Amino acid sequence: MKTMFVSLIVFFLPLIKAQNFNGIETIVPTSLSQFQCLHNQELDYVFLRVGKADGTIDNIGLQNINNAYQAGFNEFGVQIVPFFVPNLNLNATSQVVAVKAALDNTTIKFDYLFADTTATVWSSDKTQNQQFLTALHYAIWNDGVNNNNLFVPGYYSSYSKWTQAFGTNFTVDPDVQPSLLWTQVTGYANATGFQQFGGWCKPSYHLWQPNANLCGVNLGQIWGDPYANYFDKKRQSKRNQALKKFKQTMMEEL
Ligand SMILES: *[C@@H]1O[C@H](CO)[C@@H](O)[C@H](O)[C@H]1NC(C)=O
Ligand SMILES: *[C@@H]1O[C@H](CO)[C@@H](O)[C@H](O)[C@H]1NC(C)=O
Ligand SMILES: *[C@@H]1O[C@H](CO)[C@@H](O)[C@H](O)[C@H]1NC(C)=O
Ligand SMILES: *[C@@H]1O[C@H](CO)[C@@H](O)[C@H](O)[C@H]1NC(C)=O
Repeated sequence: MKTMFVSLIVFFLPLIKAQNFNGIETIVPTSLSQFQCLHNQELDYVFLRVGKADGTIDNIGLQNINNAYQAGFNEFGVQIVPFFVPNLNLNATSQVVAVKAALDNTTIKFDYLFADTTATVWSSDKTQNQQFLTALHYAIWNDGVNNNNLFVPGYYSSYSKWTQAFGTNFTVDPDVQPSLLWTQVTGYANATGFQQFGGWCKPSYHLWQPNANLCGVNLGQIWGDPYANYFDKKRQSKRNQALKKFKQTMMEEL
């Protein structure tokens, strides 16, 4: 009975919010009062950068995360989604471990970690790029060092960037479809114009207007598909079960 009740809540929540699931992304220094102003715009989430393309931690982004949290992006249904730009020439696991340490230092709990594959300088060797992304993907789920279940992975990409770096139909995870933030500029706050790549049938998010200004902050405007988000959560529990089973098998073999 309890399970049924919880399922009903989980099922109907996205329906309630279906009309409006909008957020922003910013990398510029944003003050507490600017985040308070943004919070009053009834945004559902903010994407904030925690790691830069050179592999270093983004301290401005960390300050933004703290400011956003204090300004009210800390309630149920209002999320901070951290993202970083992976560097192909550095160890994938070490980058995730460094990002995780920086995020742990904020004492805020994050569910997702997105990798912005559009800002990475990729090799012309698609196989090398695929191997790197695969290593990064599993490191985001599970750092492989302490066997911690870290974050649910998500990716920024577009048809052309994905095709160029990995090949159109390369999928990073055969078991679970990660969240996609689609970056192709269409000017439409919806998924119209989406062309399949990477195994994605549709995006979870769309950065539809990259150059906007709200509350005096230069930012990108993001539309989210509330139904996609619901399915992501289902996938998350599926992945947790798979990891648990994997760990059990390892223990039995020892
Ligand atoms: C990357 O770092 C991890 C953890 O520090 C280590 O286990 C792994 O061997 C490294 N991989 C490479 C290719 O150096
Ligand atoms: C954690 O935060 C403190 C103070 O803000 C800083 O001095 C320290 O370097 C940070 N540690 C990590 C691992 O980011
Ligand atoms: C990718 O997959 C789709 C659907 O299966 C197929 O129509 C298309 O030709 C494939 N593209 C490439 C470049 O292989
Ligand atoms: C996407 O937005 C555009 C502009 O508002 C609209 O014309 C189009 O019908 C929308 N597409 C869907 C699937 O709602």
